[in-house]
Amino acid sequence: MKIAIGSDHAGYPLKMLIVKTLPPLVPAAVVTFTDVGTHSEESCDYPDYAAAVAAAVRDGSADLGIAICGTGIGASIAANKVAGVRAALCTNEFMAEMARRHNNATVLVLGARVVGSDLALRIVQRFLESPFEGGRHQRRLDKIDAIERDNRTQ
Ligand code: RB5
Repeated sequence: MKIAIGSDHAGYPLKMLIVKTLPPLVPAAVVTFTDVGTHSEESCDYPDYAAAVAAAVRDGSADLGIAICGTGIGASIAANKVAGVRAALCTNEFMAEMARRHNNATVLVLGARVVGSDLALRIVQRFLESPFEGGRHQRRLDKIDAIERDNRTQ
C-alpha cells in the first residue's frame, strides 16, 4: 500500500513518528511511504504539503494519503480543494474507520496539536485497515462528485 504523507512544521514530529513506527503495525499490508515534506520544524505553509499529498492520491502515485498540520483544519480544507480527493480530519479511531467505510476517504488528516502520538498511530492504523463498504455509500459519494462538477468555475 503506497501512502503519500506530508505535514507542515507543526506536524513534522508526528509525521516522522508515523513513517518510522507504522509499517509493522499494519501487518495485513506492505506499507510504503512517500514523504512530500516538510523536512524540518522550520515554519512553513500547510497548504503546500496538503496539496502535494492530495495530488499524489489524485494522480494515482499513492493509494492513500496522510496530511498533518497543527489542528488538522487547514490541511483538511486545502486537501479537499483537489478535485476528486476526499480528505477526512479524524480525532479518534471510530472516525477513521467510518471515514473509510462510509466516505471512502482517500486522505486522512491529523491535528498534531490535537491528538497525542499513541492515539494518532491508532487512528492511522484503523484508517488503513478499514475497507470502503460501497452500496448506498457510493450513491452519496456520487452526489458529492456532482456538487464538485456543478460548482466548477471554469
Ligand atoms: C501553524 O501554526 C498552524 O496554523 C497550522 O499547523 C494549522 O493548525 C492550520 O490549520
